[in-house]
Amino acid sequence: MSLKIEDLSVAYQSLRGDVQAVDRVSLSIADGEIMGLAGESGCGKSTLGNSLIFMEGRMKVTGGTVELDGRPLPISDSRAMNHFRLRAVSIIPQYAMSALNPTRRVGRMASDLLKSRGVRFSSVREEFQRRIALVGLPDDVLERYPFELSGGMRQRVTMVISTLLNPSLLIADEVTSALDVSTQRAVGEMLMEFRDRGFVKSMIVITHDLSILAQIADSILIMYAGKLAEKAGAATIIEHPLHPYTQRLLASLPEVGVRYEDAALTGIPGRPPSLLSPPSGCRFRDRCPFAFEKCAEDPPFIELRPGHHVACWKAEEEVASEGALQVQEAAR
Ligand SMILES: Nc1ncnc2c1ncn2[C@@H]1O[C@H](COP(=O)(O)OP(=O)(O)OP(=O)(O)O)[C@@H](O)[C@H]1O
Ligand code: SF4
Ligand SMILES: [Mg+2]
Repeated sequence: MSLKIEDLSVAYQSLRGDVQAVDRVSLSIADGEIMGLAGESGCGKSTLGNSLIFMEGRMKVTGGTVELDGRPLPISDSRAMNHFRLRAVSIIPQYAMSALNPTRRVGRMASDLLKSRGVRFSSVREEFQRRIALVGLPDDVLERYPFELSGGMRQRVTMVISTLLNPSLLIADEVTSALDVSTQRAVGEMLMEFRDRGFVKSMIVITHDLSILAQIADSILIMYAGKLAEKAGAATIIEHPLHPYTQRLLASLPEVGVRYEDAALTGIPGRPPSLLSPPSGCRFRDRCPFAFEKCAEDPPFIELRPGHHVACWKAEEEVASEGALQVQEAAR
Protein backbone atom coordinates (compact mmCIF):
# COMPACT_ATOMS: atom_id res chain seq x y z
CA MET A 1 0.00 0.00 0.00
CA SER A 2 1.49 3.32 -1.06
CA LEU A 3 -0.62 5.78 0.89
CA LYS A 4 -2.91 5.24 3.84
CA ILE A 5 -4.87 8.12 5.33
CA GLU A 6 -6.96 7.57 8.43
CA ASP A 7 -9.51 10.01 9.80
CA LEU A 8 -7.60 13.04 8.54
CA SER A 9 -9.06 16.46 9.35
CA VAL A 10 -7.47 19.69 8.21
CA ALA A 11 -8.73 23.19 9.03
CA TYR A 12 -7.82 26.78 8.17
CA GLN A 13 -7.73 29.09 11.15
CA SER A 14 -9.69 32.26 10.51
CA LEU A 15 -10.92 35.18 12.59
CA ARG A 16 -14.42 33.77 12.39
CA GLY A 17 -13.32 30.29 13.49
CA ASP A 18 -11.93 27.16 11.88
CA VAL A 19 -12.80 26.35 8.27
CA GLN A 20 -12.90 22.54 8.33
CA ALA A 21 -11.80 21.99 4.73
CA VAL A 22 -11.00 18.27 5.11
CA ASP A 23 -13.24 16.41 7.50
CA ARG A 24 -12.39 12.90 8.76
CA VAL A 25 -11.07 11.55 5.49
CA SER A 26 -9.90 7.93 5.27
CA LEU A 27 -8.57 6.37 2.10
CA SER A 28 -5.78 4.26 0.73
CA ILE A 29 -3.94 4.20 -2.57
CA ALA A 30 -2.26 1.05 -3.84
CA ASP A 31 1.17 0.86 -5.45
CA GLY A 32 0.83 1.88 -9.08
CA GLU A 33 -2.62 3.42 -8.59
CA ILE A 34 -3.60 6.70 -10.21
CA MET A 35 -6.43 8.07 -8.10
CA GLY A 36 -8.48 10.91 -9.54
CA LEU A 37 -9.89 13.38 -7.04
CA ALA A 38 -12.88 15.42 -8.20
CA GLY A 39 -15.63 17.62 -6.84
CA GLU A 40 -16.91 21.19 -7.10
CA SER A 41 -14.77 24.21 -6.36
CA GLY A 42 -14.10 24.67 -2.63
CA CYS A 43 -14.81 21.06 -1.62
CA GLY A 44 -11.30 20.58 -0.19
CA LYS A 45 -9.40 18.84 -2.98
CA SER A 46 -6.34 21.10 -2.90
CA THR A 47 -6.37 21.23 0.90
CA LEU A 48 -6.24 17.44 1.06
CA GLY A 49 -3.44 17.31 -1.54
CA ASN A 50 -1.43 20.16 -0.04
CA SER A 51 -1.72 18.80 3.50
CA LEU A 52 0.25 15.72 2.44
CA ILE A 53 3.30 17.82 1.62
CA PHE A 54 3.16 21.40 2.85
CA MET A 55 0.93 23.00 5.47
CA GLU A 56 0.74 26.72 4.84
CA GLY A 57 0.57 29.15 7.79
CA ARG A 58 -3.13 29.00 8.60
CA MET A 59 -3.57 25.28 7.97
CA LYS A 60 -3.55 22.82 10.83
CA VAL A 61 -4.15 19.11 11.19
CA THR A 62 -7.00 18.62 13.62
CA GLY A 63 -6.92 14.84 13.60
CA GLY A 64 -5.86 11.67 11.87
CA THR A 65 -2.74 9.95 10.57
CA VAL A 66 -0.99 9.44 7.24
CA GLU A 67 1.33 6.59 6.24
CA LEU A 68 3.43 6.42 3.11
CA ASP A 69 4.91 3.06 2.17
CA GLY A 70 4.13 1.73 5.62
CA ARG A 71 5.87 4.55 7.49
CA PRO A 72 4.25 7.51 9.24
CA LEU A 73 4.32 10.74 7.21
CA PRO A 74 4.78 13.58 9.74
CA ILE A 75 2.55 16.08 7.94
CA SER A 76 2.14 18.39 10.97
CA ASP A 77 5.88 18.79 11.36
CA SER A 78 7.13 21.01 8.55
CA ARG A 79 10.79 20.49 9.41
CA ALA A 80 10.46 16.69 9.52
CA MET A 81 8.59 16.82 6.20
CA ASN A 82 11.68 18.33 4.53
CA HIS A 83 13.14 14.87 4.48
CA PHE A 84 10.17 13.57 2.46
CA ARG A 85 9.42 16.46 0.10
CA LEU A 86 10.39 15.83 -3.51
CA ARG A 87 12.04 12.51 -2.54
CA ALA A 88 9.03 10.62 -1.17
CA VAL A 89 6.10 12.89 -1.89
CA SER A 90 5.96 15.61 -4.48
CA ILE A 91 3.35 18.03 -5.78
CA ILE A 92 2.58 19.99 -8.89
CA PRO A 93 0.53 22.68 -7.16
CA GLN A 94 -2.60 24.25 -8.62
CA TYR A 95 -1.55 27.32 -10.66
CA ALA A 96 2.07 26.03 -10.76
CA MET A 97 2.34 27.00 -14.41
CA SER A 98 1.59 30.64 -13.82
CA ALA A 99 3.60 30.64 -10.59
CA LEU A 100 6.90 29.85 -12.31
CA ASN A 101 9.30 32.70 -11.57
CA PRO A 102 9.48 34.75 -14.80
CA THR A 103 12.95 36.12 -14.03
CA ARG A 104 14.64 32.73 -13.55
CA ARG A 105 15.67 30.36 -16.30
CA VAL A 106 14.21 26.85 -16.04
CA GLY A 107 17.62 25.32 -15.22
CA ARG A 108 18.20 27.74 -12.37
CA MET A 109 14.77 27.05 -10.93
CA ALA A 110 15.30 23.29 -11.04
CA SER A 111 18.72 23.65 -9.50
CA ASP A 112 17.43 25.88 -6.65
CA LEU A 113 14.59 23.49 -5.87
CA LEU A 114 16.90 20.47 -5.75
CA LYS A 115 19.45 22.37 -3.67
CA SER A 116 16.75 23.08 -1.10
CA ARG A 117 16.42 19.28 -0.78
CA GLY A 118 20.19 18.80 -0.52
CA VAL A 119 20.61 17.45 -4.06
CA ARG A 120 23.17 18.84 -6.53
CA PHE A 121 21.63 19.44 -9.95
CA SER A 122 24.80 18.16 -11.63
CA SER A 123 24.14 14.73 -10.07
CA VAL A 124 20.77 14.41 -11.82
CA ARG A 125 21.43 16.51 -14.93
CA GLU A 126 21.82 13.52 -17.24
CA GLU A 127 18.52 12.03 -16.08
CA PHE A 128 16.84 15.43 -16.38
CA GLN A 129 17.96 15.70 -20.03
CA ARG A 130 16.75 12.15 -20.70
CA ARG A 131 13.31 12.93 -19.31
CA ILE A 132 13.11 16.28 -21.07
CA ALA A 133 13.68 14.44 -24.35
CA LEU A 134 11.16 11.78 -23.35
CA VAL A 135 8.39 14.35 -22.93
CA GLY A 136 9.28 15.97 -26.24
CA LEU A 137 10.85 19.18 -24.91
CA PRO A 138 13.83 20.79 -26.67
CA ASP A 139 17.34 20.26 -25.26
CA ASP A 140 17.81 23.95 -24.56
CA VAL A 141 14.79 24.19 -22.26
CA LEU A 142 17.12 24.68 -19.27
CA GLU A 143 18.35 27.93 -20.80
CA ARG A 144 14.86 29.31 -21.39
CA TYR A 145 12.68 31.59 -19.32
CA PRO A 146 9.14 30.37 -18.50
CA PHE A 147 7.55 33.03 -20.75
CA GLU A 148 9.42 31.52 -23.68
CA LEU A 149 7.48 28.27 -23.22
CA SER A 150 3.90 27.44 -24.16
CA GLY A 151 1.45 26.34 -21.43
CA GLY A 152 1.88 22.68 -22.36
CA MET A 153 5.69 22.98 -22.33
CA ARG A 154 5.64 24.66 -18.92
CA GLN A 155 3.43 21.92 -17.54
CA ARG A 156 5.85 19.28 -18.86
CA VAL A 157 8.79 21.06 -17.27
CA THR A 158 7.06 21.21 -13.88
CA MET A 159 6.21 17.51 -14.19
CA VAL A 160 9.78 16.53 -14.99
CA ILE A 161 11.24 18.64 -12.18
CA SER A 162 8.75 17.49 -9.55
CA THR A 163 9.33 13.80 -10.30
CA LEU A 164 13.09 13.89 -10.88
CA LEU A 165 13.85 12.16 -7.59
CA ASN A 166 11.30 9.38 -8.25
CA PRO A 167 8.90 10.16 -5.39
CA SER A 168 6.59 7.46 -4.14
CA LEU A 169 3.55 9.76 -4.39
CA LEU A 170 2.86 12.62 -6.80
CA ILE A 171 -0.01 15.01 -6.28
CA ALA A 172 -0.94 16.69 -9.55
CA ASP A 173 -3.37 19.55 -8.85
CA GLU A 174 -5.32 20.78 -11.90
CA VAL A 175 -2.40 20.17 -14.22
CA THR A 176 -4.59 20.05 -17.29
CA SER A 177 -7.22 22.74 -16.59
CA ALA A 178 -5.58 25.68 -18.35
CA LEU A 179 -4.58 23.71 -21.45
CA ASP A 180 -6.28 23.18 -24.77
CA VAL A 181 -7.90 19.81 -25.40
CA SER A 182 -5.12 18.09 -27.33
CA THR A 183 -2.49 19.27 -24.82
CA GLN A 184 -4.72 18.05 -21.98
CA ARG A 185 -4.70 14.59 -23.52
CA ALA A 186 -0.92 14.67 -24.02
CA VAL A 187 -0.31 15.71 -20.40
CA GLY A 188 -2.72 12.96 -19.26
CA GLU A 189 -0.75 10.40 -21.24
CA MET A 190 2.48 11.69 -19.74
CA LEU A 191 1.16 11.17 -16.24
CA MET A 192 0.41 7.54 -17.10
CA GLU A 193 3.79 7.09 -18.72
CA PHE A 194 5.57 8.49 -15.64
CA ARG A 195 3.74 5.90 -13.54
CA ASP A 196 4.42 3.09 -16.02
CA ARG A 197 8.13 3.92 -16.13
CA GLY A 198 8.32 3.96 -12.33
CA PHE A 199 9.20 7.68 -12.04
CA VAL A 200 6.42 7.79 -9.44
CA LYS A 201 4.73 4.89 -7.69
CA SER A 202 1.26 6.33 -7.24
CA MET A 203 -0.57 9.55 -7.96
CA ILE A 204 -3.43 11.72 -6.84
CA VAL A 205 -4.70 13.62 -9.86
CA ILE A 206 -6.92 16.50 -8.77
CA THR A 207 -9.20 17.91 -11.43
CA HIS A 208 -12.63 19.23 -12.27
CA ASP A 209 -12.43 17.35 -15.52
CA LEU A 210 -13.90 13.88 -15.19
CA SER A 211 -13.18 13.17 -18.85
CA ILE A 212 -9.43 13.33 -18.15
CA LEU A 213 -9.95 10.96 -15.23
CA ALA A 214 -11.88 8.58 -17.48
CA GLN A 215 -8.75 8.53 -19.65
CA ILE A 216 -6.05 8.06 -17.01
CA ALA A 217 -7.38 7.19 -13.54
CA ASP A 218 -7.61 3.70 -12.05
CA SER A 219 -9.93 4.93 -9.33
CA ILE A 220 -11.93 8.10 -8.72
CA LEU A 221 -12.69 9.75 -5.40
CA ILE A 222 -15.47 12.33 -5.22
CA MET A 223 -15.43 14.90 -2.41
CA TYR A 224 -18.26 17.13 -1.30
CA ALA A 225 -17.98 19.94 1.26
CA GLY A 226 -14.80 18.60 2.87
CA LYS A 227 -16.02 15.01 3.08
CA LEU A 228 -15.70 11.89 0.98
CA ALA A 229 -18.83 11.13 -1.02
CA GLU A 230 -17.83 8.16 -3.20
CA LYS A 231 -14.79 6.14 -4.30
CA ALA A 232 -14.59 3.27 -6.76
CA GLY A 233 -12.84 2.12 -9.92
CA ALA A 234 -12.92 4.83 -12.62
CA ALA A 235 -15.32 2.94 -14.91
CA THR A 236 -17.70 2.21 -12.02
CA ILE A 237 -17.84 5.87 -10.98
CA ILE A 238 -18.47 7.01 -14.53
CA GLU A 239 -20.93 4.30 -15.56
CA HIS A 240 -22.60 3.27 -12.27
CA PRO A 241 -22.26 6.05 -9.70
CA LEU A 242 -24.29 5.45 -6.54
CA HIS A 243 -24.09 8.84 -4.81
CA PRO A 244 -26.69 11.40 -5.98
CA TYR A 245 -23.96 14.07 -5.98
CA THR A 246 -21.71 12.03 -8.30
CA GLN A 247 -24.70 11.34 -10.53
CA ARG A 248 -25.43 15.04 -10.81
CA LEU A 249 -21.79 15.95 -11.28
CA LEU A 250 -21.62 13.57 -14.23
CA ALA A 251 -24.93 14.78 -15.64
CA SER A 252 -23.76 18.40 -15.47
CA LEU A 253 -20.64 17.62 -17.47
CA PRO A 254 -20.27 19.09 -20.89
CA GLU A 255 -19.33 16.96 -23.87
CA VAL A 256 -15.92 15.36 -23.45
CA GLY A 257 -13.23 17.83 -24.42
CA VAL A 258 -14.92 21.09 -23.38
CA ARG A 259 -12.73 23.08 -21.02
CA TYR A 260 -13.76 23.52 -17.40
CA GLU A 261 -13.88 27.32 -17.70
CA ASP A 262 -16.60 26.90 -20.32
CA ALA A 263 -18.28 24.02 -18.52
CA ALA A 264 -18.65 26.02 -15.31
CA LEU A 265 -21.60 27.79 -16.91
CA THR A 266 -23.77 24.74 -16.30
CA GLY A 267 -23.68 22.81 -13.03
CA ILE A 268 -25.73 21.52 -10.14
CA PRO A 269 -28.40 23.91 -8.82
CA GLY A 270 -27.63 25.37 -5.39
CA ARG A 271 -24.33 25.80 -3.60
CA PRO A 272 -22.24 23.70 -1.24
CA PRO A 273 -22.62 24.65 2.46
CA SER A 274 -20.14 26.86 4.28
CA LEU A 275 -17.31 24.92 5.86
CA LEU A 276 -17.11 27.42 8.70
CA SER A 277 -20.22 25.97 10.32
CA PRO A 278 -21.35 23.06 8.16
CA PRO A 279 -24.88 21.73 8.73
CA SER A 280 -25.41 18.46 10.57
CA GLY A 281 -26.47 15.36 8.67
CA CYS A 282 -25.66 14.75 5.03
CA ARG A 283 -24.02 17.88 3.64
CA PHE A 284 -25.64 17.39 0.24
CA ARG A 285 -29.12 17.36 1.80
CA ASP A 286 -30.22 20.85 0.65
CA ARG A 287 -29.48 20.02 -2.98
CA CYS A 288 -30.42 16.36 -3.04
CA PRO A 289 -33.72 15.45 -4.72
CA PHE A 290 -33.78 12.14 -2.82
CA ALA A 291 -33.27 13.53 0.68
CA PHE A 292 -35.42 11.81 3.31
CA GLU A 293 -35.73 11.75 7.07
CA LYS A 294 -32.64 9.67 7.73
CA CYS A 295 -30.46 12.21 5.89
CA ALA A 296 -30.58 14.38 9.02
CA GLU A 297 -27.89 11.96 10.28
CA ASP A 298 -24.39 11.98 8.83
CA PRO A 299 -24.09 8.99 6.43
CA PRO A 300 -20.95 6.88 7.00
CA PHE A 301 -18.50 6.35 4.13
CA ILE A 302 -18.75 2.58 3.73
CA GLU A 303 -18.04 -0.17 1.22
CA LEU A 304 -21.42 -0.97 -0.34
CA ARG A 305 -20.07 -3.16 -3.12
CA PRO A 306 -16.56 -4.65 -3.38
CA GLY A 307 -14.18 -1.71 -3.82
CA HIS A 308 -17.08 0.78 -4.03
CA HIS A 309 -17.35 3.13 -1.05
CA VAL A 310 -20.26 5.54 -0.69
CA ALA A 311 -21.59 7.94 1.97
CA CYS A 312 -25.33 8.03 1.27
CA TRP A 313 -28.35 6.55 3.05
CA LYS A 314 -30.31 6.14 -0.16
CA ALA A 315 -27.47 4.28 -1.89
CA GLU A 316 -27.14 2.07 1.18
CA GLU A 317 -30.86 1.17 1.03
CA GLU A 318 -30.71 0.61 -2.72
CA VAL A 319 -27.79 -1.79 -2.50
CA ALA A 320 -29.36 -3.57 0.48
CA SER A 321 -32.62 -4.09 -1.46
CA GLU A 322 -30.69 -5.42 -4.48
CA GLY A 323 -29.07 -7.91 -2.12
CA ALA A 324 -32.47 -8.92 -0.68
CA LEU A 325 -33.82 -9.39 -4.21
CA GLN A 326 -30.91 -11.62 -5.12
CA VAL A 327 -31.47 -13.71 -2.00
CA GLN A 328 -35.17 -14.09 -2.91
CA GLU A 329 -34.32 -15.08 -6.49
CA ALA A 330 -31.74 -17.60 -5.30
CA ALA A 331 -34.34 -19.12 -2.93
CA ARG A 332 -36.85 -19.64 -5.78
N1 LIG B 1 -5.87 29.93 2.81
C1 LIG B 1 -7.13 29.70 3.16
N2 LIG B 1 -7.68 30.27 4.25
C2 LIG B 1 -8.96 30.01 4.63
N3 LIG B 1 -9.77 29.17 3.97
C3 LIG B 1 -9.28 28.58 2.88
C4 LIG B 1 -7.95 28.81 2.41
N4 LIG B 1 -7.75 28.06 1.29
C5 LIG B 1 -8.92 27.41 1.08
N5 LIG B 1 -9.83 27.72 2.03
C6 LIG B 1 -11.20 27.18 2.14
O1 LIG B 1 -11.11 25.77 2.26
C7 LIG B 1 -12.11 25.16 1.48
C8 LIG B 1 -11.49 24.17 0.53
O2 LIG B 1 -10.66 24.87 -0.40
P1 LIG B 1 -9.77 24.10 -1.46
O3 LIG B 1 -8.88 25.12 -2.10
O4 LIG B 1 -9.13 22.92 -0.82
O5 LIG B 1 -10.88 23.61 -2.49
P2 LIG B 1 -10.72 22.93 -3.94
O6 LIG B 1 -11.63 21.76 -3.93
O7 LIG B 1 -9.29 22.69 -4.24
O8 LIG B 1 -11.33 24.07 -4.89
P3 LIG B 1 -10.94 24.46 -6.42
O9 LIG B 1 -11.58 23.41 -7.25
O10 LIG B 1 -11.55 25.80 -6.60
O11 LIG B 1 -9.46 24.46 -6.54
C9 LIG B 1 -12.90 26.27 0.80
O12 LIG B 1 -14.06 26.48 1.54
C10 LIG B 1 -11.97 27.45 0.88
O13 LIG B 1 -12.71 28.64 0.99
S1 SF4 C 1 -27.68 10.78 2.33
FE1 SF4 C 1 -29.67 11.59 1.74
S2 SF4 C 1 -29.35 13.75 1.26
FE2 SF4 C 1 -27.37 12.74 1.27
S3 SF4 C 1 -27.00 12.21 -0.84
FE3 SF4 C 1 -27.91 10.42 0.13
S4 SF4 C 1 -30.12 10.64 -0.21
FE4 SF4 C 1 -29.20 12.62 -0.66
MG1 LIG D 1 -8.03 23.43 -5.70
